[in-house]
Amino acid sequence: MNPAKRRTVIAGNWKMNFTPAEATAFINEIKPMVAGKDNCDIIFCAPFVSIAAAMEAAKGSNIVIGAENVHYEAKGAYTGEISADMLKAIGVNTVLVGHSERRQYFGETDETVNLRTKAALAAGMRVILCMGEVKEQRLAGITNEVCAMQIKLDLAGISAEDMKNVIIAYEPVWAIGTGLTATPEQAEDACAVIRATIAELYGNEVAEATTIQYGGSMNDANAAELLSKPNVDGGLIGGASLVAKKFTAIVDAAQ
Ligand code: 13P
Repeated sequence: MNPAKRRTVIAGNWKMNFTPAEATAFINEIKPMVAGKDNCDIIFCAPFVSIAAAMEAAKGSNIVIGAENVHYEAKGAYTGEISADMLKAIGVNTVLVGHSERRQYFGETDETVNLRTKAALAAGMRVILCMGEVKEQRLAGITNEVCAMQIKLDLAGISAEDMKNVIIAYEPVWAIGTGLTATPEQAEDACAVIRATIAELYGNEVAEATTIQYGGSMNDANAAELLSKPNVDGGLIGGASLVAKKFTAIVDAAQ
């Protein structure tokens, strides 16, 4: 991370975990543990039904509650989807877009990820845009090309001004939920490629100001080393974001 140039962001992605009651209990537990740790932004992205409870519990703390997805249309016949205006109406300003599980299991593509990102930005929200290569692509030696292409497709038509509200989460798919973490060097190399691609699209100033997180089995044991890399500006954490002690240790590693 390079705190002189950009904000470190440690975000939890709860995925399909935590009922409203569980979310309340978790936030109440972790709130005092992360109090005053202001060298990074702390975010938890919650399942839609648990957002309100988590927000209520987080009131007055340094914890921000976000959502795990957003649809690109404002309203209409899109069963099961939630619009940016709906999220904003309950006070949500931060949202994950393009998580690999959405791409893998629910048919989301770079095109729809781009549309969702644009809709959230148009509503004034902050987007954590998730991308990264699958195992076959890494083994084929095309990680850099895949990352560059995804960034270009996912950010197509998004202005330099809007990039102020975009955080990139580099999440190699083979490292998610597998216990296999990218080495600090692998994370650094990919994040550097992503930053170079952003520079190609928007110039150096925007690239240097963009927060790029690493995600994929980040935990209390490996966070410090990953976060020590100059192009790794935070983490997007799944499993370890469900355990207050582990998540707090990651926040501590970012201080
Ligand atoms: P894990 O930390 O469980 O590997 O999940 C990472 C992730 O997908 C965060 O979005």
